[in-house]
This record gives sequence, structure tokens and C-alpha cells, in this order.
Amino acid sequence: MIIALDGPAASGKGTLARQLAAHFGLRHLDTGLTYRAVAAALLARGLPLGDEEVAIGVARNLDLGALDRNQLSTHEIGEAASRIAVLSGLRRELVELQRHFAQSGKGAVLDGRDIGTVVCPDATAKLYITAKPEARAKRRTDELNGKGIPADFDEILVDLKRRDHRDSNREDSPLRPAKDAHLLDTTEMDIETAFRSAVDIVEQAIK
Ligand code: C5P
Repeated sequence: MIIALDGPAASGKGTLARQLAAHFGLRHLDTGLTYRAVAAALLARGLPLGDEEVAIGVARNLDLGALDRNQLSTHEIGEAASRIAVLSGLRRELVELQRHFAQSGKGAVLDGRDIGTVVCPDATAKLYITAKPEARAKRRTDELNGKGIPADFDEILVDLKRRDHRDSNREDSPLRPAKDAHLLDTTEMDIETAFRSAVDIVEQAIK
């Protein structure tokens, strides 16, 4: 059983993916972390973000078990991840790793931008999670402030819109719902309501 979740930044797909994995007893891979880990390694070594060969070399040595969202969650790394995510050769390398994760074991939940369209087109259930940009920016601002990290709503809103635009308009694997994805707009939902709706969608798909 494979559950695919896609959607824009801060749509809540990561939280939902973790909750669905726990609920259905499946492993979970946040594929955004694979792009973030490559970006972080390039930044740390002062290497250019546009050099595809170098990025592919880093991707080949990625250890999926060592990905840590806390270390990779900074704004700078997210921005760099979305810039290297346009490199087709790098995408092929990471998609390979992600498919391997999805296909080994009993099943898995993967979240990202192209899971339902490219990584796991035959997934058991596909969900496309959205929310209005203002709602996503508010959640992200509250989350950062909650951790004691100062965050400005207007700046976050501009950043999210820029990243959405880049992710939706790149040539290779742009962010978009798969034709058979179930849309879940969480703008007016709290986490619990979104989770219950997602479980319903997956249970319908299993039937
Ligand atoms: O979801 P997250 O913010 O961690 O992703 C960081 C960036 O990685 C995204 O903005 C996107 O450009 C890229 N990404 C992608 N395909 C995925 C997951 C993430 O292109 N499956």
C-alpha cells in the first residue's frame, strides 16, 4: 500500500503524512528532505547550486535514514532546495532513491510535489493537499514563533508564493495534482479535521 501526498509548501502535507503513516502502520518519507539534504551539503561546502554533476554526486551518497528535518528546516535551505529541484539529472537520482524506499517493505507514505505524478504513479491513494497562501503563511509564522524563532507574516507570505511559483512552473515534474488525486483544501480545517478527511479518502481508495 502506497499513499502519495503532494501539495505546496506549508500546506500541512508533512503533518498529515506522519499521522497517516502512524495510523496505517506504514513507513514515511518526506521527499522534500532529500532535496533539502543535497542543498544543505552544497551550501555547507560552498559549492554552486547550479552544478548538476556535483549535486548528483552528493545525492548518490545520501543516507535516507539520516535525514533530520530539524537540521534541514531553515528558510535558506528550503530556498536552495527549490532552486536545485529544477535540475533533471538530480531529480532522476532522487526519484530513484524515493521509489526504492516506496517499494521496499510493506508499504509507505511519501509526501512531496511529484509523488502522485512521477514517483509513485500507481499509488493506492493520492491526495493533493492545498490551503490558501495566507493560511499557509499564518501557520508557518505561528510554528516558527512557537519555537521562539522570530518570523514575519508578510515576508513568509512572499517567500511561499515565490517557492510555489518556482515549483509549479519548472519544466521537469512541476507541482500539480495527479489526474486521479483527491483534493483536500485545509484552509478552513484544523489538523484533526484534515486528518479525519484524509483517513476517509484513503479508506475509500482501499475499498
Ligand atoms: O517540502 P519542502 O519544503 O521540504 O521541499 C523543499 C523543496 O524541494 C520544494 O520547494 C521543492 O522545490 C523541492 N521538492 C521537489 N519535489 C519533491 C519534494 C520537494 O521538487 N518531491
